[in-house]
Amino acid sequence: MMEKLVEAVRQSFEKKFQRKPLLLASPGRINLIGEHTDYNEGFVLPGATDRCLVFAVAARADRRCRLYSLDFDQDFATDLDHLHRSEWRWPDYLQGVLDQFLKAGYNIGGVDIAFGGNVPIGGGMSSSAAVEAGLAFALNHLFDLKLDLLTLALLAQKAENEFVGLRCGIMDMYANLHGRPGQVLKIDCRHLVHEYYPFDRPELRIIISDTGVRRELASSEYNVRRHQCEQGVRILQKYYPGLKSLRDVSLEMLQEHRAEFDPVVWKRCAYVVRENNRVELACQDLLRHDFNSFGLRMQESHLGLRDEYEVSSPELNLLVEAASAVPGVLGSRMMGAGFGGCTISLVYADAVEAFVESLARAYQGRTGRAATIYVTQAADGVKVL
Ligand code: GLA
Repeated sequence: MMEKLVEAVRQSFEKKFQRKPLLLASPGRINLIGEHTDYNEGFVLPGATDRCLVFAVAARADRRCRLYSLDFDQDFATDLDHLHRSEWRWPDYLQGVLDQFLKAGYNIGGVDIAFGGNVPIGGGMSSSAAVEAGLAFALNHLFDLKLDLLTLALLAQKAENEFVGLRCGIMDMYANLHGRPGQVLKIDCRHLVHEYYPFDRPELRIIISDTGVRRELASSEYNVRRHQCEQGVRILQKYYPGLKSLRDVSLEMLQEHRAEFDPVVWKRCAYVVRENNRVELACQDLLRHDFNSFGLRMQESHLGLRDEYEVSSPELNLLVEAASAVPGVLGSRMMGAGFGGCTISLVYADAVEAFVESLARAYQGRTGRAATIYVTQAADGVKVL
């Protein structure tokens, strides 16, 4: 599958631009646990996946930028002095990155780019970070800038924050750039450091189930959630002056000052504090190879996202409930920002067939639509092919 994709991207680049490209693969990400904790300076446990975008890129001697998306079959032309928001979304992810490199004063020139892949677009695996971090990595390579991976991740995140306007955290770009086969990363989103944890048990599979639902709501509600977390922090700062984010908050602190909180804001904050604790505990489960306990924490994470953080959707809940009823499923939860997109489930290898069958049936029966279900694994971060 991958070879075909690489060939398709290379060929359309060569046909359009009449030159030889550099080829890169930029993966989507999975997240085992730790949702909506990254922008609260907390912990997350993501990895890069075997679903990826392939980029064909070449530097230009002038400042023109010619961009081509295979998935949308659309061309977009601009130049470094006239970057502007487009009516399509995909050029903005690329332009946002070019914009950040310019603002940071890096010496880049124009580029020709063709890209496309099999990361579900807007599906909760962060196709957007795959675009942004992929281009950041490519620019670093093409213009020999010698930037480290963390700097690239931060530039990609800023591109999304400032050019696209979603106040996303660092998780997606970080995981996309630092991924390793068979390993997930526990990222400390305050100190921007990570530790790898092996996640390649032969008896277990990671399954992604895509609702096929894409909701624009995700970005506006996402920014609302961030704001609610900040409101909670401001209340507690009156009592704990050194407090910077929900990372510094315990459930006891929240309980003590509950009366001063708007109940919705309180619920949001309680979720984040609990989810952070769950990531820590889930990592301890991994060290003990206790996947039963790990799966239960995924389950609790879903309930928190559904009931306290309120970013799940009927379709996501349906998939999680159907998964939980299948014997041999250790845990299942919605993944990513929410409102649409996909779930992630941890399943014994010998239960995969039953899993796929029951979910497909349940989803079709209740929604009239097909869910896309596939097994994935932790894989490499962005790399030159
Ligand atoms: C999106 C954002 C991430 C993170 C997740 C929720 O994927 O881009 O930064 O906040 O949602 O965990």
